[in-house]
This record gives sequence, C-alpha cells and structure tokens, in this order.
Amino acid sequence: MAVVLQGIRACVFDAYGTLFDVASATLRCSDVLGDKAASLARLWRDKQLQYTWLRTIQGRHADFWQVTGDALDFAMDEMQISGPGLRGRLMGLYRRLDAFPEVPDVLRELKQTGLAVAILSNGSPSMLTEAVESAGIGRYLDAILSVEEVGAFKPHPKVYQCAADRLQIPAGQICFQSSNAWDAYAASAFGMRVVWCNRYGQRPERLPGAPDAEIRTLAQLPSLLAHP
Ligand code: LAC
Repeated sequence: MAVVLQGIRACVFDAYGTLFDVASATLRCSDVLGDKAASLARLWRDKQLQYTWLRTIQGRHADFWQVTGDALDFAMDEMQISGPGLRGRLMGLYRRLDAFPEVPDVLRELKQTGLAVAILSNGSPSMLTEAVESAGIGRYLDAILSVEEVGAFKPHPKVYQCAADRLQIPAGQICFQSSNAWDAYAASAFGMRVVWCNRYGQRPERLPGAPDAEIRTLAQLPSLLAHP
C-alpha cells in the first residue's frame, strides 16, 4: 500500500471488532450453540449497535454492559436459544474476547516508534480494562478511553473529541483505526486521519467522511505511518 500518513502523533483504536473478535464469545459456546453460534454473534452485534445509536438519539444513555446484555436477550429470544447458565457464560466471555492474532505485535511496534497508542471505544471502563488485561496488551497502551466519559455512544462527535482532548493532540494528528466502517467514516468526518481495517470485506459506506486508507488486517498498519 503506497499511502504514507505524515505527521501522525497518536494511533487510536476502536476496540470491538477491531482489536477484539466479537464472534469469539459465541464460538466458545459452540458445544451448546452448534451451528447457531455465528448467526447469534451477528444478531447480537447488530442489535447491540442499534441500541447504542437509538439510545444516543433518544438521549437515554446506558453503559455498554447493559446495552450488550439487552442485545443478547433480544437475540436469544429471537433465535429461541436458551440453556442453563448460557446467558451468564456468554456475557462472561464477552469481557475477555480473543484479540485478533496480529494485535499484540502491531501495538508493540507502534509504541516502539514513539507514537501514543490508545483505545477509544463504546465499551465501559471495566469491560475495556478486563479485555485489555485478558489479551495482555495493557503495556502497549497509553490510554483506554471509554465513551462513558461523555455519556454518548459513537458516532457522536463528542466521542472523537474526547480522544483529542484526553491525548492533547489535535484530531488531524491522530490516526484512528476501526473495522466498523460507519465508525471509520465518522472519525474521518470529525477530522481524524483514518485507516479502515476492513476485516469483513464490507462495501464502502455512503456517509460523510472518507478513510485515508483501507487495510485488511492491522498488520498492514505500521508500514502506512511515517515515523514521528
Ligand atoms: C467500539 C465498538 C463500536 O468498540 O466496536 O466502540
């Protein structure tokens, strides 16, 4: 990939779907879910995101833990899935999702080049702390930023503003990575430089914003960045 992003001082990552594999919770329950594991993961995730957007539009914020539980309840109900302890098991697994395989090495490499490295996520602080600890990536992170600081979910502009404020780096010098296309476009529209990690082969969004680069896994990220 030819694009080199100049003048970047911080790399900020979305968490769910970008660093952490949201499908890993249901996959680990394949003993009970069988071939429904992948569809449950999809519906759970779709509903979870819808609830974040709807709650933000309504001005009725609840934290991501509650939204994630509400979305799981809907998805299990819709798919008529039940089982002793299954809800608790899935929610527990959501707190320590698998990191995608390239994540620790990429974060280490970025940190070594002198960039600030951070997470900016819908996740509640305790969810993010637990996921980071479980993945063993805390030592590479300068900040774990949760939308709880602003009381609204992505893509509200004040979420992206929070990263610039907390890192004390102008948005135009922050490179934001997300595999959620809508999140990537929103960060770009806000004024960040954006690398869309299109893990899932999604089509481009028809929304404000334009990612500066598109990659398939985060392993391609360090070569896009000129050293600070
Ligand atoms: C997050 C969701 C959007 O981590 O994946 O913010």
